[in-house]
Amino acid sequence: MADPSHEEAAPAPSRRSLLGWGGAGLALGAAAVGGATALHRGGGGGAPAPDAVPFHGPRQAGIATAVPDRLHFAAFDVTTTDRAELAALLREWSAAAAALTQGRPVGGGATGGLPEAPPDDTGEALGLRPARLTLTLGLGPSLFAKDRFGLHTRRPAALAELPKFPGDNLDPARGGGDLCVQACSDDPQVAVHAVRNLARIGFGRVAVRWSQLGFGKTSSTTPDSQTPRNLFGFKDGTANIAGTDDKALDRHVWVPAADGPDWMAGGSYLVARRIRMHIETWDRTSLREQEDVIGRTKGEGAPVAKAGEHDAPLLTAMLPTAHVRLAHPDSNGGARMLRRGYSFTDGTDGLGRLDAGLFFLAYQRDVRDAFIPVQRALSRNDALNEYIQHTGSAVFAIPPGVRDERDWWARGLFT
Ligand code: HEM
Repeated sequence: MADPSHEEAAPAPSRRSLLGWGGAGLALGAAAVGGATALHRGGGGGAPAPDAVPFHGPRQAGIATAVPDRLHFAAFDVTTTDRAELAALLREWSAAAAALTQGRPVGGGATGGLPEAPPDDTGEALGLRPARLTLTLGLGPSLFAKDRFGLHTRRPAALAELPKFPGDNLDPARGGGDLCVQACSDDPQVAVHAVRNLARIGFGRVAVRWSQLGFGKTSSTTPDSQTPRNLFGFKDGTANIAGTDDKALDRHVWVPAADGPDWMAGGSYLVARRIRMHIETWDRTSLREQEDVIGRTKGEGAPVAKAGEHDAPLLTAMLPTAHVRLAHPDSNGGARMLRRGYSFTDGTDGLGRLDAGLFFLAYQRDVRDAFIPVQRALSRNDALNEYIQHTGSAVFAIPPGVRDERDWWARGLFT
Protein backbone atom coordinates (compact mmCIF):
# COMPACT_ATOMS: atom_id res chain seq x y z
CA MET A 1 0.00 0.00 0.00
CA ALA A 2 1.20 3.47 -0.75
CA ASP A 3 1.70 5.77 2.15
CA PRO A 4 -1.22 8.23 2.04
CA SER A 5 0.84 10.76 3.98
CA HIS A 6 2.78 11.20 0.73
CA GLU A 7 -0.26 12.82 -0.83
CA GLU A 8 -1.09 15.28 1.92
CA ALA A 9 2.03 17.18 2.92
CA ALA A 10 2.13 17.42 6.70
CA PRO A 11 3.33 20.60 8.39
CA ALA A 12 7.09 20.73 8.63
CA PRO A 13 9.69 23.01 10.10
CA SER A 14 10.51 25.86 7.75
CA ARG A 15 13.84 26.47 6.09
CA ARG A 16 14.01 29.62 8.15
CA SER A 17 13.79 27.64 11.37
CA LEU A 18 16.30 25.13 10.05
CA LEU A 19 18.62 27.94 9.15
CA GLY A 20 18.19 29.43 12.56
CA TRP A 21 19.10 26.09 14.05
CA GLY A 22 22.12 25.71 11.78
CA GLY A 23 23.11 29.26 12.49
CA ALA A 24 22.95 28.56 16.21
CA GLY A 25 25.26 25.61 15.64
CA LEU A 26 27.69 27.86 13.86
CA ALA A 27 27.47 30.46 16.58
CA LEU A 28 28.49 27.83 19.08
CA GLY A 29 31.64 27.44 17.05
CA ALA A 30 32.00 25.24 14.00
CA ALA A 31 35.20 23.77 15.36
CA ALA A 32 33.56 22.67 18.57
CA VAL A 33 30.46 20.98 17.20
CA GLY A 34 31.35 20.52 13.53
CA GLY A 35 29.58 23.11 11.36
CA ALA A 36 28.55 20.61 8.71
CA THR A 37 27.01 18.27 11.24
CA ALA A 38 25.22 21.04 13.01
CA LEU A 39 23.69 22.20 9.74
CA HIS A 40 22.70 18.67 8.82
CA ARG A 41 19.27 18.24 10.18
CA GLY A 42 18.99 14.48 9.69
CA GLY A 43 22.61 13.75 10.63
CA GLY A 44 22.43 16.14 13.54
CA GLY A 45 19.97 13.93 15.39
CA GLY A 46 16.73 15.78 14.54
CA ALA A 47 13.94 13.92 12.76
CA PRO A 48 13.78 14.53 9.00
CA ALA A 49 11.07 16.96 7.90
CA PRO A 50 7.85 14.99 7.28
CA ASP A 51 7.57 16.36 3.76
CA ALA A 52 11.21 15.58 2.87
CA VAL A 53 11.79 12.59 0.58
CA PRO A 54 15.00 10.71 1.47
CA PHE A 55 17.78 11.46 -1.01
CA HIS A 56 20.18 8.65 -0.12
CA GLY A 57 19.30 5.08 -1.02
CA PRO A 58 19.84 2.29 -3.55
CA ARG A 59 17.56 3.97 -6.11
CA GLN A 60 17.12 7.59 -7.07
CA ALA A 61 14.00 9.29 -5.74
CA GLY A 62 11.71 10.85 -8.33
CA ILE A 63 10.86 7.61 -10.14
CA ALA A 64 8.79 5.24 -7.97
CA THR A 65 8.22 7.84 -5.24
CA ALA A 66 4.85 9.63 -5.11
CA VAL A 67 4.55 12.33 -7.78
CA PRO A 68 4.43 15.91 -6.45
CA ASP A 69 2.42 18.49 -8.34
CA ARG A 70 5.15 20.61 -9.96
CA LEU A 71 8.13 20.01 -12.20
CA HIS A 72 11.23 21.87 -13.30
CA PHE A 73 13.19 19.75 -15.73
CA ALA A 74 16.55 20.96 -17.05
CA ALA A 75 18.94 19.47 -19.60
CA PHE A 76 22.57 20.60 -19.56
CA ASP A 77 25.47 20.67 -22.00
CA VAL A 78 28.77 19.84 -20.34
CA THR A 79 31.14 22.62 -21.35
CA THR A 80 34.30 21.39 -19.66
CA THR A 81 36.39 18.84 -21.55
CA ASP A 82 38.07 17.62 -18.38
CA ARG A 83 36.80 14.29 -17.05
CA ALA A 84 37.99 15.04 -13.50
CA GLU A 85 36.06 18.33 -13.53
CA LEU A 86 32.93 16.51 -14.65
CA ALA A 87 33.30 13.96 -11.85
CA ALA A 88 33.91 16.77 -9.33
CA LEU A 89 30.76 18.51 -10.50
CA LEU A 90 28.68 15.36 -9.95
CA ARG A 91 30.16 15.08 -6.45
CA GLU A 92 29.28 18.69 -5.66
CA TRP A 93 25.80 18.32 -7.16
CA SER A 94 25.14 15.23 -5.04
CA ALA A 95 26.07 17.06 -1.83
CA ALA A 96 23.89 20.03 -2.80
CA ALA A 97 20.97 17.76 -3.76
CA ALA A 98 21.22 15.93 -0.44
CA ALA A 99 20.85 19.28 1.34
CA LEU A 100 18.17 20.79 -0.90
CA THR A 101 15.86 17.76 -0.79
CA GLN A 102 15.94 17.87 3.01
CA GLY A 103 15.02 21.56 3.05
CA ARG A 104 18.52 22.78 3.80
CA PRO A 105 20.27 25.51 1.82
CA VAL A 106 23.31 24.90 -0.37
CA GLY A 107 26.72 25.13 1.32
CA GLY A 108 26.88 27.86 3.96
CA GLY A 109 23.43 29.15 3.08
CA ALA A 110 22.00 32.39 1.75
CA THR A 111 22.87 34.66 4.64
CA GLY A 112 25.46 34.96 7.33
CA GLY A 113 28.47 34.40 5.10
CA LEU A 114 31.24 36.81 4.15
CA PRO A 115 29.65 40.15 3.19
CA GLU A 116 32.24 40.51 0.41
CA ALA A 117 31.31 37.21 -1.30
CA PRO A 118 28.12 36.08 -3.05
CA PRO A 119 26.18 33.75 -0.75
CA ASP A 120 26.42 29.97 -1.39
CA ASP A 121 22.64 29.72 -1.73
CA THR A 122 20.53 32.06 -3.86
CA GLY A 123 17.97 32.44 -1.08
CA GLU A 124 14.54 32.29 -2.70
CA ALA A 125 13.65 29.10 -0.82
CA LEU A 126 14.35 30.60 2.61
CA GLY A 127 11.34 29.88 4.79
CA LEU A 128 9.93 27.26 2.42
CA ARG A 129 9.46 23.59 3.27
CA PRO A 130 11.03 20.73 1.29
CA ALA A 131 7.55 20.12 -0.23
CA ARG A 132 8.59 16.57 -1.27
CA LEU A 133 11.41 17.87 -3.48
CA THR A 134 13.15 15.10 -5.42
CA LEU A 135 16.17 15.62 -7.67
CA THR A 136 16.86 12.92 -10.23
CA LEU A 137 19.98 12.94 -12.40
CA GLY A 138 20.35 11.51 -15.90
CA LEU A 139 23.17 11.12 -18.44
CA GLY A 140 22.52 11.63 -22.16
CA PRO A 141 24.02 9.60 -25.02
CA SER A 142 26.22 12.55 -26.10
CA LEU A 143 28.20 12.28 -22.86
CA PHE A 144 29.49 8.92 -24.09
CA ALA A 145 30.80 10.20 -27.44
CA LYS A 146 34.19 8.75 -28.33
CA ASP A 147 36.24 11.94 -28.31
CA ARG A 148 34.93 13.39 -25.05
CA PHE A 149 35.47 11.85 -21.60
CA GLY A 150 36.67 8.35 -22.44
CA LEU A 151 33.27 6.92 -21.46
CA HIS A 152 32.32 5.40 -24.81
CA THR A 153 33.13 1.82 -23.79
CA ARG A 154 30.78 2.16 -20.81
CA ARG A 155 27.74 3.39 -22.72
CA PRO A 156 24.73 1.17 -22.03
CA ALA A 157 23.21 -0.43 -25.14
CA ALA A 158 19.80 0.26 -23.62
CA LEU A 159 20.52 4.01 -23.87
CA ALA A 160 19.42 3.91 -27.50
CA GLU A 161 18.96 7.04 -29.59
CA LEU A 162 15.31 7.33 -30.52
CA PRO A 163 14.47 6.91 -34.20
CA LYS A 164 12.55 9.61 -36.03
CA PHE A 165 8.88 8.71 -35.67
CA PRO A 166 6.25 9.68 -38.26
CA GLY A 167 4.74 13.06 -37.37
CA ASP A 168 7.67 14.20 -35.22
CA ASN A 169 8.32 17.92 -35.45
CA LEU A 170 11.26 18.10 -33.09
CA ASP A 171 12.90 21.37 -32.17
CA PRO A 172 16.62 20.73 -31.52
CA ALA A 173 16.56 23.59 -29.01
CA ARG A 174 14.14 21.54 -26.91
CA GLY A 175 15.93 18.22 -27.04
CA GLY A 176 19.06 16.25 -26.21
CA GLY A 177 21.52 17.13 -23.47
CA ASP A 178 24.58 15.61 -21.80
CA LEU A 179 22.97 15.67 -18.36
CA CYS A 180 19.49 16.23 -17.00
CA VAL A 181 18.01 17.05 -13.64
CA GLN A 182 14.35 16.35 -12.94
CA ALA A 183 13.18 18.44 -9.99
CA CYS A 184 9.71 17.60 -8.65
CA SER A 185 8.07 19.35 -5.71
CA ASP A 186 4.68 20.50 -4.53
CA ASP A 187 6.09 24.04 -4.47
CA PRO A 188 7.25 25.41 -7.85
CA GLN A 189 9.61 27.85 -6.17
CA VAL A 190 11.39 24.98 -4.39
CA ALA A 191 11.84 23.08 -7.67
CA VAL A 192 13.09 26.14 -9.55
CA HIS A 193 15.40 27.08 -6.68
CA ALA A 194 16.97 23.61 -6.77
CA VAL A 195 17.65 23.65 -10.52
CA ARG A 196 18.93 27.21 -10.37
CA ASN A 197 21.39 26.40 -7.60
CA LEU A 198 22.66 23.28 -9.37
CA ALA A 199 23.18 25.35 -12.53
CA ARG A 200 25.01 27.94 -10.47
CA ILE A 201 27.31 25.35 -8.91
CA GLY A 202 28.01 24.06 -12.41
CA PHE A 203 28.95 27.48 -13.83
CA GLY A 204 31.94 27.10 -16.16
CA ARG A 205 31.43 23.33 -16.38
CA VAL A 206 27.84 23.02 -17.58
CA ALA A 207 25.32 25.29 -19.29
CA VAL A 208 21.55 24.87 -19.35
CA ARG A 209 20.59 23.62 -22.81
CA TRP A 210 16.81 23.63 -22.39
CA SER A 211 14.34 23.43 -19.57
CA GLN A 212 10.66 22.77 -19.04
CA LEU A 213 8.27 23.76 -16.29
CA GLY A 214 5.32 21.49 -15.61
CA PHE A 215 2.24 21.48 -13.42
CA GLY A 216 -0.61 19.15 -12.55
CA LYS A 217 1.10 15.76 -12.67
CA THR A 218 -0.54 13.71 -15.39
CA SER A 219 0.27 10.34 -13.90
CA SER A 220 0.24 8.96 -10.43
CA THR A 221 2.44 6.30 -8.89
CA THR A 222 0.06 6.07 -5.94
CA PRO A 223 -3.01 4.17 -7.23
CA ASP A 224 -5.02 4.72 -4.04
CA SER A 225 -5.15 8.46 -4.71
CA GLN A 226 -7.42 10.09 -7.28
CA THR A 227 -6.12 9.68 -10.82
CA PRO A 228 -5.03 13.08 -12.17
CA ARG A 229 -6.37 14.48 -15.46
CA ASN A 230 -4.44 15.77 -18.44
CA LEU A 231 -5.26 18.88 -20.50
CA PHE A 232 -7.69 16.87 -22.67
CA GLY A 233 -9.72 16.39 -19.50
CA PHE A 234 -9.16 12.63 -19.29
CA LYS A 235 -7.85 10.68 -16.33
CA ASP A 236 -4.22 9.87 -17.07
CA GLY A 237 -2.22 7.20 -15.30
CA THR A 238 -5.01 4.70 -14.58
CA ALA A 239 -3.01 1.77 -15.93
CA ASN A 240 0.36 3.13 -14.84
CA ILE A 241 2.93 1.08 -12.91
CA ALA A 242 2.43 1.81 -9.22
CA GLY A 243 5.42 2.89 -7.15
CA THR A 244 4.53 0.13 -4.72
CA ASP A 245 4.35 -2.66 -7.32
CA ASP A 246 7.85 -4.08 -6.78
CA LYS A 247 7.27 -6.97 -9.15
CA ALA A 248 6.37 -4.67 -12.07
CA LEU A 249 9.12 -2.20 -11.16
CA ASP A 250 11.73 -4.97 -11.13
CA ARG A 251 10.50 -6.33 -14.42
CA HIS A 252 9.89 -3.12 -16.35
CA VAL A 253 11.62 -0.14 -14.68
CA TRP A 254 14.80 -0.98 -12.73
CA VAL A 255 17.92 -2.21 -14.53
CA PRO A 256 18.98 -5.58 -13.08
CA ALA A 257 22.70 -6.30 -12.70
CA ALA A 258 22.42 -8.98 -15.39
CA ASP A 259 21.45 -6.38 -18.01
CA GLY A 260 24.73 -4.47 -17.53
CA PRO A 261 26.73 -2.33 -17.59
CA ASP A 262 27.64 -2.77 -13.91
CA TRP A 263 27.41 0.95 -13.07
CA MET A 264 23.73 1.02 -14.17
CA ALA A 265 22.49 -1.78 -11.87
CA GLY A 266 19.54 -0.39 -9.93
CA GLY A 267 19.10 2.49 -12.36
CA SER A 268 16.59 3.10 -15.15
CA TYR A 269 16.21 4.89 -18.50
CA LEU A 270 14.16 8.01 -19.06
CA VAL A 271 12.45 9.19 -22.24
CA ALA A 272 11.32 12.81 -22.21
CA ARG A 273 9.01 14.07 -24.97
CA ARG A 274 7.49 17.52 -25.18
CA ILE A 275 4.11 16.89 -26.77
CA ARG A 276 2.08 19.86 -27.94
CA MET A 277 -1.65 19.26 -27.50
CA HIS A 278 -3.94 21.13 -29.89
CA ILE A 279 -6.48 21.83 -27.22
CA GLU A 280 -8.56 24.22 -29.36
CA THR A 281 -9.20 21.45 -31.93
CA TRP A 282 -9.89 18.94 -29.16
CA ASP A 283 -12.37 21.29 -27.51
CA ARG A 284 -14.42 21.37 -30.73
CA THR A 285 -14.55 17.57 -30.89
CA SER A 286 -17.66 15.73 -29.71
CA LEU A 287 -17.55 13.85 -26.43
CA ARG A 288 -18.19 10.54 -28.22
CA GLU A 289 -15.26 11.07 -30.54
CA GLN A 290 -12.98 12.12 -27.68
CA GLU A 291 -13.87 8.91 -25.83
CA ASP A 292 -13.38 6.81 -28.97
CA VAL A 293 -9.97 8.38 -29.57
CA ILE A 294 -8.76 7.55 -26.06
CA GLY A 295 -10.67 4.27 -25.59
CA ARG A 296 -11.98 5.30 -22.18
CA THR A 297 -14.89 7.39 -20.89
CA LYS A 298 -14.19 10.98 -19.92
CA GLY A 299 -15.99 11.07 -16.57
CA GLU A 300 -15.20 7.76 -14.91
CA GLY A 301 -12.21 6.82 -17.04
CA ALA A 302 -13.68 3.36 -17.65
CA PRO A 303 -12.48 1.38 -20.67
CA VAL A 304 -14.94 1.28 -23.59
CA ALA A 305 -17.80 -1.16 -22.80
CA LYS A 306 -16.85 -1.30 -19.11
CA ALA A 307 -18.25 0.56 -16.09
CA GLY A 308 -15.40 1.26 -13.68
CA GLU A 309 -12.05 3.01 -14.09
CA HIS A 310 -10.10 -0.02 -12.91
CA ASP A 311 -12.08 -2.65 -14.87
CA ALA A 312 -9.86 -4.68 -17.18
CA PRO A 313 -10.01 -3.16 -20.68
CA LEU A 314 -11.58 -5.15 -23.51
CA LEU A 315 -9.29 -4.02 -26.28
CA THR A 316 -11.40 -5.48 -29.10
CA ALA A 317 -14.33 -3.29 -28.02
CA MET A 318 -12.22 -0.18 -28.80
CA LEU A 319 -11.52 1.28 -32.21
CA PRO A 320 -8.32 -0.22 -33.70
CA THR A 321 -6.89 3.33 -33.59
CA ALA A 322 -7.80 4.03 -29.94
CA HIS A 323 -4.86 5.29 -27.89
CA VAL A 324 -5.30 2.83 -25.02
CA ARG A 325 -5.71 -0.13 -27.37
CA LEU A 326 -2.49 0.69 -29.21
CA ALA A 327 -0.49 1.54 -26.07
CA HIS A 328 -1.67 -1.44 -24.02
CA PRO A 329 0.95 -4.10 -23.15
CA ASP A 330 -1.14 -6.79 -24.91
CA SER A 331 -0.65 -4.93 -28.19
CA ASN A 332 3.10 -4.49 -27.58
CA GLY A 333 4.47 -7.87 -26.52
CA GLY A 334 4.01 -7.02 -22.83
CA ALA A 335 5.99 -3.74 -22.96
CA ARG A 336 5.37 -1.41 -20.00
CA MET A 337 6.86 1.80 -18.64
CA LEU A 338 6.32 4.05 -15.64
CA ARG A 339 4.78 7.30 -16.84
CA ARG A 340 5.45 10.43 -14.80
CA GLY A 341 4.58 13.35 -17.03
CA TYR A 342 3.32 16.88 -16.35
CA SER A 343 1.10 19.34 -18.19
CA PHE A 344 2.60 22.57 -19.49
CA THR A 345 1.43 25.86 -20.93
CA ASP A 346 4.23 27.97 -22.39
CA GLY A 347 2.34 31.08 -23.43
CA THR A 348 0.79 31.36 -26.87
CA ASP A 349 1.95 30.41 -30.34
CA GLY A 350 1.29 33.74 -32.04
CA LEU A 351 -1.71 32.27 -33.87
CA GLY A 352 -4.17 32.76 -31.03
CA ARG A 353 -3.63 29.32 -29.57
CA LEU A 354 -2.12 28.22 -26.29
CA ASP A 355 1.24 26.50 -26.57
CA ALA A 356 0.09 23.76 -24.21
CA GLY A 357 0.62 20.06 -23.86
CA LEU A 358 2.07 17.13 -22.06
CA PHE A 359 5.69 16.90 -21.00
CA PHE A 360 5.79 13.12 -21.21
CA LEU A 361 8.32 11.43 -18.94
CA ALA A 362 8.60 7.63 -18.89
CA TYR A 363 11.00 5.40 -16.98
CA GLN A 364 11.86 1.94 -18.22
CA ARG A 365 14.39 -0.85 -18.02
CA ASP A 366 15.35 -0.69 -21.68
CA VAL A 367 14.27 1.98 -24.16
CA ARG A 368 14.49 -0.52 -27.03
CA ASP A 369 11.85 -2.77 -25.46
CA ALA A 370 9.43 -0.15 -24.16
CA PHE A 371 9.16 3.42 -25.46
CA ILE A 372 10.48 2.73 -28.96
CA PRO A 373 8.07 -0.09 -29.93
CA VAL A 374 5.07 1.55 -28.23
CA GLN A 375 5.72 4.95 -29.81
CA ARG A 376 6.32 3.28 -33.17
CA ALA A 377 2.80 1.83 -32.98
CA LEU A 378 1.28 5.06 -31.68
CA SER A 379 3.00 7.30 -34.23
CA ARG A 380 1.62 5.23 -37.10
CA ASN A 381 -1.95 4.59 -36.03
CA ASP A 382 -3.04 6.52 -32.93
CA ALA A 383 -6.24 8.53 -33.50
CA LEU A 384 -4.77 10.99 -30.99
CA ASN A 385 -2.19 12.08 -33.57
CA GLU A 386 -4.76 14.45 -35.09
CA TYR A 387 -4.65 16.41 -31.84
CA ILE A 388 -1.01 16.23 -30.75
CA GLN A 389 2.51 16.79 -32.07
CA HIS A 390 5.83 15.78 -30.53
CA THR A 391 8.06 18.88 -30.43
CA GLY A 392 10.94 17.91 -28.12
CA SER A 393 12.78 14.69 -27.35
CA ALA A 394 15.55 13.39 -25.14
CA VAL A 395 16.71 10.14 -23.61
CA PHE A 396 18.84 9.65 -20.49
CA ALA A 397 20.46 6.88 -18.48
CA ILE A 398 19.38 7.25 -14.86
CA PRO A 399 22.11 5.81 -12.63
CA PRO A 400 21.25 4.07 -9.34
CA GLY A 401 20.78 6.04 -6.14
CA VAL A 402 23.43 7.86 -4.12
CA ARG A 403 23.90 5.46 -1.22
CA ASP A 404 25.24 7.79 1.47
CA GLU A 405 27.16 11.00 2.04
CA ARG A 406 30.38 9.52 0.66
CA ASP A 407 28.74 8.35 -2.53
CA TRP A 408 27.79 10.57 -5.50
CA TRP A 409 25.69 10.51 -8.65
CA ALA A 410 27.11 8.11 -11.30
CA ARG A 411 30.24 7.39 -9.23
CA GLY A 412 30.35 3.86 -10.68
CA LEU A 413 30.83 5.29 -14.16
CA PHE A 414 33.96 7.20 -13.19
CA THR A 415 35.65 4.64 -10.95
C1 HEM B 1 -0.34 14.12 -25.36
C2 HEM B 1 -0.14 12.85 -25.51
C3 HEM B 1 -0.84 11.78 -24.72
C4 HEM B 1 -2.04 11.82 -24.09
C5 HEM B 1 -3.03 12.98 -24.02
C6 HEM B 1 -2.25 10.53 -23.49
C7 HEM B 1 -3.37 10.18 -22.76
C8 HEM B 1 -3.60 8.92 -22.22
C9 HEM B 1 -4.78 8.54 -21.50
C10 HEM B 1 -5.96 9.46 -21.20
C11 HEM B 1 -4.65 7.25 -21.14
C12 HEM B 1 -5.68 6.38 -20.37
C13 HEM B 1 -5.47 6.35 -18.88
C14 HEM B 1 -4.25 5.64 -18.42
O1 HEM B 1 -4.20 4.42 -18.32
O2 HEM B 1 -3.25 6.32 -18.17
C15 HEM B 1 -3.36 6.80 -21.61
C16 HEM B 1 -2.83 5.55 -21.44
C17 HEM B 1 -1.59 5.17 -21.86
N1 HEM B 1 -0.70 5.91 -22.60
FE1 HEM B 1 -0.95 7.79 -23.22
N2 HEM B 1 -1.17 9.74 -23.75
C18 HEM B 1 -0.28 10.47 -24.51
C19 HEM B 1 0.94 10.06 -24.99
C20 HEM B 1 1.48 8.81 -24.78
C21 HEM B 1 2.76 8.38 -25.26
C22 HEM B 1 3.74 9.21 -26.08
C23 HEM B 1 2.94 7.10 -24.81
C24 HEM B 1 4.10 6.16 -25.02
C25 HEM B 1 4.82 6.07 -26.10
C26 HEM B 1 1.75 6.73 -24.05
C27 HEM B 1 1.56 5.53 -23.45
C28 HEM B 1 0.43 5.16 -22.75
C29 HEM B 1 0.28 3.88 -22.10
C30 HEM B 1 1.33 2.76 -22.03
C31 HEM B 1 -0.99 3.87 -21.55
C32 HEM B 1 -1.65 2.75 -20.75
C33 HEM B 1 -2.31 1.79 -21.67
C34 HEM B 1 -2.94 0.64 -20.88
O3 HEM B 1 -2.19 -0.21 -20.39
O4 HEM B 1 -4.17 0.63 -20.73
N3 HEM B 1 0.90 7.79 -24.08
N4 HEM B 1 -2.76 7.84 -22.27
